[in-house]
Amino acid sequence: MPKRYYITTPIYYVNSVPHIGTTLTTFISDVTARYQKMQGREVTFLTGTDENGLKVKEAALAAGKQPQQFVDEISEKFKAIFEGMDIRFDDFIRTTEPRHFAAVQEVFRRLQAKGYIYTGKYEGWYDISSETFFKEAELVDGKSPDGNEVRWVEEENYFFKLSAFEKPLLEHIEKNPNFILPEARRNEVISYIKQGLRDASISRANDGWGVPIPGDEKRVVYVWFDALINYLSATGWPASGYENYWPADVEFMGKDILTRFHATLWPGILMGLDLPLPTTLVGHAWLLIGQEKISKSKGNVVRPLELAEELVAASGCEYPIAIDAVRYYMASSLPFENDTTFTHDEFYKRYNSDLANDLGNGLNRSLAMAHKFVDGKVPAAKPDMESFGACTDALAQYNKSMKGFRIDHATDAVWGVVRFLNKYIDTKAPWALAKAQDPKLNEVLASMLFSLRFVQGLLIPILPATAAEIADQLSIEDRTTCDLDITEPGTPLKQPRPIFPRIDLTKMQTPQPEPETPKPEVKAPEPAPAQPEQITIEDFMKVQLRVGRVLEAEAIEGATKLLKLQVMLGSEKRQIVAGIAANYAPIDLIGRQVIVVANLKPAKLRGVESQGMLLAAVDENNGAILLQPEKEAPDGGLVR
Ligand code: ME8
Ligand code: MG
Repeated sequence: MPKRYYITTPIYYVNSVPHIGTTLTTFISDVTARYQKMQGREVTFLTGTDENGLKVKEAALAAGKQPQQFVDEISEKFKAIFEGMDIRFDDFIRTTEPRHFAAVQEVFRRLQAKGYIYTGKYEGWYDISSETFFKEAELVDGKSPDGNEVRWVEEENYFFKLSAFEKPLLEHIEKNPNFILPEARRNEVISYIKQGLRDASISRANDGWGVPIPGDEKRVVYVWFDALINYLSATGWPASGYENYWPADVEFMGKDILTRFHATLWPGILMGLDLPLPTTLVGHAWLLIGQEKISKSKGNVVRPLELAEELVAASGCEYPIAIDAVRYYMASSLPFENDTTFTHDEFYKRYNSDLANDLGNGLNRSLAMAHKFVDGKVPAAKPDMESFGACTDALAQYNKSMKGFRIDHATDAVWGVVRFLNKYIDTKAPWALAKAQDPKLNEVLASMLFSLRFVQGLLIPILPATAAEIADQLSIEDRTTCDLDITEPGTPLKQPRPIFPRIDLTKMQTPQPEPETPKPEVKAPEPAPAQPEQITIEDFMKVQLRVGRVLEAEAIEGATKLLKLQVMLGSEKRQIVAGIAANYAPIDLIGRQVIVVANLKPAKLRGVESQGMLLAAVDENNGAILLQPEKEAPDGGLVR
């Protein structure tokens, strides 16, 4: 049996329910797991909860609950939130499970038998918030380096001879540049080890909570020593078969728990057991709110499922799509090397610009044109070199990024194709090809559908619900790969359904109420004055009227009557805001000719620049009936 690709996340303290920061690591792991599965690997993706610590016990008591009941409840919440985020872990380990107790006790026995464990008196400071021991010299103003309260501990303890592994560990790190990522973190670890690794205290007095030390009922295992071993317990170690999993291919975590734990204590334990080290440890940076790390203990939390619900309320999108939008935020703003500050504004902005505008429009326009010009069927033509080249390049960048755990760069690669597609549509102007009955039309439409199909495949690991929805609209069946292939010519396509309805950002950001009587956006048509002022032909000729063609049309946040159009006047592109939303759906305007007042001074309507005006007749309800040349006219041509 080939070894499985084994991915782990930290196991989370169940002192309170997860937030978007805790979800981040598990999300990255999910994308990596789905990506590796798409590559045909057998994958095991492990996550879970860390339940034996003092911190957890104290949180239970503070909540007035028995620790076991408390951890049972919170652990379920972690599972539910991860599942809610469409995170598909293969195993969920809880450190209060018998399989974990057994593995921890076995590790202890083996290390003891090999002489790596000894007893001695421990004296020092303990930070319960991070469950970390500190030396006097490490304290800052009497607190932990992170500013947490510390308490003095003085007890007879077991020690693990971590110092014995200082040299071999440094050698391993130096020989394996990908053992610790990103590189800046690796350098931090190297200098930390070079300052000297101390032996680690690995027990504490038994207060009825924790893994008992074999043969010593008075003590339990120190929570970090116990927690790290979860990665091994889940493989069934020491029973045979664990080699199908171990060593882990990648262990993800935040930078807070890399240096002292995953990159030193953990490899030390493994070396003591003569077990191989994980191939790669990724210690990513943090998501911040304001200047602070989002943290359960600080209470400054943003919860991912609540964020999705808020998005449903703000945009009207389907719930699974809102979950994808949260996933999109995490993927695209992944704090890999540097911290990222989360803001609701940024979250909503990205939804509108990247999902609604770029991806949503690209899909809508392409499907609308396929229905308009080729009967809504995949045309029998090969994609052109330009599209093929763009997708091939993106695939290389995507694979390389996914293999280096840069989900953010992989996501950029996908959006590179999405933006390519939109530009491609603008420059190829399929409506012009259709009008001219140019045989290239089929190739252009086939290329657009090819790029979209490709994007759909790349999205499977990142935005699974979106990928499924796009697959449905494009009639892509049973696809689990992201190959550069095409849909069978002749396949009927579905009608475009907007996946990402836009959010009215003006309403989201400005808490101020709308003015009582909003300014009219479209001038009510004045009845023709009885005696209009007469003008000369010279007066009339001051107005330059030209034939335009609508490239793009979309709603404007906060303005229900307006549409924002991109109109080509021959080779010149104009953005025009028109008060026609009540009478025209954006999709019906794409490709259509209109008459434009071309020398009108630009003006801002609802904050959006308008560089011209469309001519329309007025219907009995003050609605607009757009003027259009009686037959196709030269694009950009003059109207007199
Ligand atoms: O440390 N930004 O558990 P924990 C990014 N039980 N990631 C964040 C984050 C943020 N604001 N907040 C939390 C523990 N994380 C131990 C781990 S493993 C053997 C034992 C993520 O509940 C990040 O992965 O404090 C961080 O390392 C982890 O949650 C800490 O979770
Ligand atoms: Mg923590």
